[in-house]
Amino acid sequence: NEIYLQGLGGATPAMTTDLSRLEEAAGGVLTPEALGYVAGAAGAGATMRANRESFDRWKIVPRMLTGATDRDLSTTLFGTALPAPVLLAPVGVQSIVHPEAELATARAAAGLGVPMILSTASSRTIEQVADANGDGPRWFQLYWPNDQDVCASILERARKAGYTTLVVTLDTWTLAWRPQDLDRAYLPFIRNEGTAIAMSDPAFRARLEKTPEEDQPTAILHWVGMFTGTDHGWDQLPSLRALWDGPILLKGIQHVDDARRAVDAGMDGVVVSNHGGRQVDGALGALEALPGIAQAVGEQVEVLFDSGVRTGADMFKALALGAKAVLLGRPFVYGLGLGGEDGVRHVLRSLLAEFELTLGLAGYRTPGELTPAALQRS
Ligand code: FNR
Repeated sequence: NEIYLQGLGGATPAMTTDLSRLEEAAGGVLTPEALGYVAGAAGAGATMRANRESFDRWKIVPRMLTGATDRDLSTTLFGTALPAPVLLAPVGVQSIVHPEAELATARAAAGLGVPMILSTASSRTIEQVADANGDGPRWFQLYWPNDQDVCASILERARKAGYTTLVVTLDTWTLAWRPQDLDRAYLPFIRNEGTAIAMSDPAFRARLEKTPEEDQPTAILHWVGMFTGTDHGWDQLPSLRALWDGPILLKGIQHVDDARRAVDAGMDGVVVSNHGGRQVDGALGALEALPGIAQAVGEQVEVLFDSGVRTGADMFKALALGAKAVLLGRPFVYGLGLGGEDGVRHVLRSLLAEFELTLGLAGYRTPGELTPAALQRS
């Protein structure tokens, strides 16, 4: 309606409403380095493609005359009501695509009541993002460092700053072979925001300022290195639980047995994800892993999903196959690059409008009504 009314006044949307074309649109404004970082994948990109192919293999079977004129997208996660089953995925170093970085994302998310998941690799501090997010719902994503004191300090800051839920990303204990970044020798990080990850920690920044200039790159490498090449096991999850009293989800789960282990370890949820195809090239399309995991543990814990969601129809399919909610990755980052806070808002509102129309036109009133029976595999 809003777009139609603007059209009556002769105006067209500032940004495309075709969410599948955002990458192309972002290509017109982002530097090649920034675009390479966001759009890039591990290896030859086979898993990133498989993510999309796995969506294409499922088709929606619309039902008629169901009275789905009055839709309600709301859902509940861990006792908190959300306007729709969508969250913003954790995405690091957002300053690479926009100067307002995570702060713009936090404002857009808060305005819509959509939870933002802040990355450990944020280019703004935990506290700055919380301020920008205000009363909005916010979760924190942990890259689980080897150093227990650093881990405790980060989680304490997140708790104090009002992040309610912890997402522990397990699939990136070391960075994969990512040709797009390797061919550029990680220059976008080093030149523009190379120290962003390290600098967003106030204690580290204070110490770095006292470090002789020639030793600073080594210090930064040491700090970043604390979050990569980490060596944890399932038996260490209780140590994490001791540091966080809210819900904990494990992100990067792709095998049913790992989902069961998460439940056995007392976790509150899993995020079925292959990191948008950025870690194990050749791994299965994330949507292929979803039905089995949802069936195995969906009654006991919350099953969330990401990797490859681009449109309202994709959301529909993931929810029908057992996800309670989806995380949106690259599309909102393109929105950020294209238009800062307004861009993120445009992408989220377009996705939700398209999802709502798809839901209703397929004959359903609420996300909770969706089951695999709404789909056919082809
Ligand atoms: C990511 N992702 C990610 N995940 C995470 O747990 N911590 C992080 O810091 C990042 N950083 C990051 C940067 C960029 C540029 C991208 C594209 C992705 C992974 C992200 O949370 C999510 O799993 C994927 O983006 C989902 O796939 P799609 O939606 O991008 O296909």
